[in-house]
Amino acid sequence: MTVAVLGAGKIGEALLSGLLHAGYAPEDLLFTERHPERAAELTERYGVAGVEVADAAKRADVLVVAVKPQDIDPVLDELSGLVGPCSLVVSMCAGLPTSLFERRLPEGTPVVRVMPNTPMLVGAAMSAVSPGKHATDEQLRTVEELLSSVGKVIVLPESQQDAVTALSGSGPAYFFYLVEAMIDAGILLGLPRAVAQQLIVQAAVGAGKMLDEGGQHPVMLRENVTSPGGTTINGIRELEKHGVRAALLDAIESARDRSIELGKVHEE
Ligand SMILES: NC(=O)c1ccc[n+]([C@@H]2O[C@H](COP(=O)([O-])OP(=O)(O)OC[C@H]3O[C@@H](n4cnc5c(N)ncnc54)[C@H](OP(=O)(O)O)[C@@H]3O)[C@@H](O)[C@H]2O)c1
Repeated sequence: MTVAVLGAGKIGEALLSGLLHAGYAPEDLLFTERHPERAAELTERYGVAGVEVADAAKRADVLVVAVKPQDIDPVLDELSGLVGPCSLVVSMCAGLPTSLFERRLPEGTPVVRVMPNTPMLVGAAMSAVSPGKHATDEQLRTVEELLSSVGKVIVLPESQQDAVTALSGSGPAYFFYLVEAMIDAGILLGLPRAVAQQLIVQAAVGAGKMLDEGGQHPVMLRENVTSPGGTTINGIRELEKHGVRAALLDAIESARDRSIELGKVHEE
C-alpha cells in the first residue's frame, strides 16, 4: 500500500517517521510540500520522495491531508480534479468535518477523519478515527491498520471529534507544559536544570507507564503517593488553592470550542 502525506509539517513528518519506524519502505511513502527546501530536507532525512499533488493522487492508495485547517481550500481545489470514489482521503485537520471534503470532492469520494497526536513520532500516538458517509468498513479498517502501526487507535462517532481534538490532539502540549513548569520548580528549589529535567521526565515516564500498564484508576495511584501528614498533601493543597483542576477543565473546553470554530469557517 502506498501512502502519500499532503503537507509534511509537524504531524505529517511524525506520520512518515512513525511509518518508517514501523517497517514501511521509503518507496511506499510519498509526500507533498510547498517549499522545495523543506521537501529536500525531508527526502534527505527519510529517503521518501517529495512529489506534486497530481503524482501523489495517481500513485497513492491513501492520501493523508495534514495541512493546517486554514490552508485547506487550495488543497481541496487541487484534489477535486484528481480523486474520486476509488480514492481514499484521510484528513488529520483539526475541526474540519468530513462533510466539507465530501462537498468539495467528487461525489462518492471516501473520506475518513482522524485526530492523531505528535507522540506518533515515537510510535505512541493516540488516533481517533471517524468514517465519512462514503467510507466503507474495509476502508475504515485500512486506516485503523495504518495508524495502529504508529500507536493506539479508537473508532468514534464524528460528533466526538472536537472533544478528542481538545483532549488527545492537544493533550501532549498540556503534559509538556506541566513538565516545563515542574522543571522550573526544581530550579526554584536550587537544583541544576539538567537534574531537575531528569527527575521530572522520569517521573512523567514512570507515571505514564503505571497509568497505561497497571490498570489502576488515577485517583488510587495519586492516593498511594499521598500519605497522611506527608509532603504530597501539602502540594495538593496548593494545587487545589490555585484551581488547577478548574483551569484544566476550562483549558480543554476552550480548545474544544476552537476546534468547533475552525470547522464553522467552512460551513456553507
Ligand atoms: N501538531 C499537532 O500536534 C497536531 C495534532 C493533531 C492534528 N494536527 C493537525 O495536523 C494538521 C497539520 O498540523 P501541523 O502542526 O503539522 O502543521 P504544520 O507543521 O504547519 O504542517 C503543515 C504543512 O503543510 C504544508 N502545506 C500547507 N499547504 C500546503 C499545500 N497546499 N501543499 C503542500 N503542503 C502544504 C505546510 O507548509 P508551509 O510551512 O509552507 O506552511 C506545512 O509544512 C493540522 O490540520 C492540525 O490540526 C496537528
